[in-house]
Amino acid sequence: MKNSRKLISLAAVASLAVAIPLVSNYGASASTSPDAAAAASVTPAQALALVQANMTTANKVNSKPHINTMTRAQNVNVYQVASGVYAYTSSLAVDDDGSDPDSDPDHQDQTTFQDSNGKQLAAHHVPFYVLGDDCWDRKSPCPHFFYKEHNIKGRQFALMFYNGKCIGSIFGDTQTGNDQTTSDNDSRELGEASVKSASLLGIPSSGTTGGVDNGVTVVIFSGSSWVVNGTNANLNTTAQAMVQNALDTLGASMGGTPPTTPPTGNTFEAETGTLSAGGTFDSNHQGFTGTGFANTANAAGAYVDIPVTVSAAGTKTATFRYSDGTAAARPATISVNGTSRGTLNFPVTANWDTWSTASISVPLTAGSNTIRVAGNTADGAANIDSVTIS
Ligand code: GCU
Ligand code: CA
Repeated sequence: MKNSRKLISLAAVASLAVAIPLVSNYGASASTSPDAAAAASVTPAQALALVQANMTTANKVNSKPHINTMTRAQNVNVYQVASGVYAYTSSLAVDDDGSDPDSDPDHQDQTTFQDSNGKQLAAHHVPFYVLGDDCWDRKSPCPHFFYKEHNIKGRQFALMFYNGKCIGSIFGDTQTGNDQTTSDNDSRELGEASVKSASLLGIPSSGTTGGVDNGVTVVIFSGSSWVVNGTNANLNTTAQAMVQNALDTLGASMGGTPPTTPPTGNTFEAETGTLSAGGTFDSNHQGFTGTGFANTANAAGAYVDIPVTVSAAGTKTATFRYSDGTAAARPATISVNGTSRGTLNFPVTANWDTWSTASISVPLTAGSNTIRVAGNTADGAANIDSVTIS
């Protein structure tokens, strides 16, 4: 299968843009922005699971299917997975266009979009993805996903996921319009990206023999604040520096409830424990780890007991991850296996979605232990997310 698709010239793009009335919500601002990231640190696996959970029929943007560039199957759909965020899963066909020389027969020296200095993008240096350059059906609104209807411009940021990897990428090139009859190109195609995107994702990146047929998920963040500026020399670094922010933004915009991560190493989730009367394990605030956090009753002495296992006895540091969105600190008595080890203060945090840590030194026995956090005031304990032993 040929991996590289021909692209129409910039002049042709410009004339198409004039010929087709494209209005819709172009120019509307998306509700996500790089500044909107949650305090939580969302992992690529968590973000992808959230995206996939939102790739539902109800969220489908296109009414007619797109074409997988590699397999040619008409089975690719685009979903609005969060406000202003669009996702699809398709192939990765290798685009080697742009200012980098390449011996591939399909190589063209122009990309639809340029770097901030007006230079053609360099497919071996800049991770970019490709979208259709017009509405194949010549209708507005377009029955397919058409980027100009969704506040997406050149160098628009996207996360790309494949086989456990996650990279930042920019919108760099477009797929030929259907008025070109000299090739099998089609602006309904989705599933092409640059040599650099392929190599960062661990996909064979030859313009002739590279690519992968399926399993690449592209998550596009619309709006002007997600347009990436830079040159061929630094666009890759800049895009990768935006990845964690994008992951956190996804987590926040999708309710901030990443799927369960099993406790690893020395961190023990509060929700594996037990609560005194009136307490609940909740997940209604953002940024917790695991499946939730402990919300004790608002009463003096209200507690959560957290089971903690260590391999060797010794004096350890117990670091609680907690939140207190009120105006008053919530000091608590920390007990280990029934013996009080002192009072630990839990100062206020900005709100209930913001998590901080408080530490205390405690003796632990080898094997199972129970650490109790019991609120000293009538407010009960802070919300407790986890305890880490070090
Ligand atoms: C709010 C908040 C809870 C918190 C409680 C409290 O209800 O949503 O998560 O535990 O206040 O004051 O303890
Ligand atoms: Ca509470």
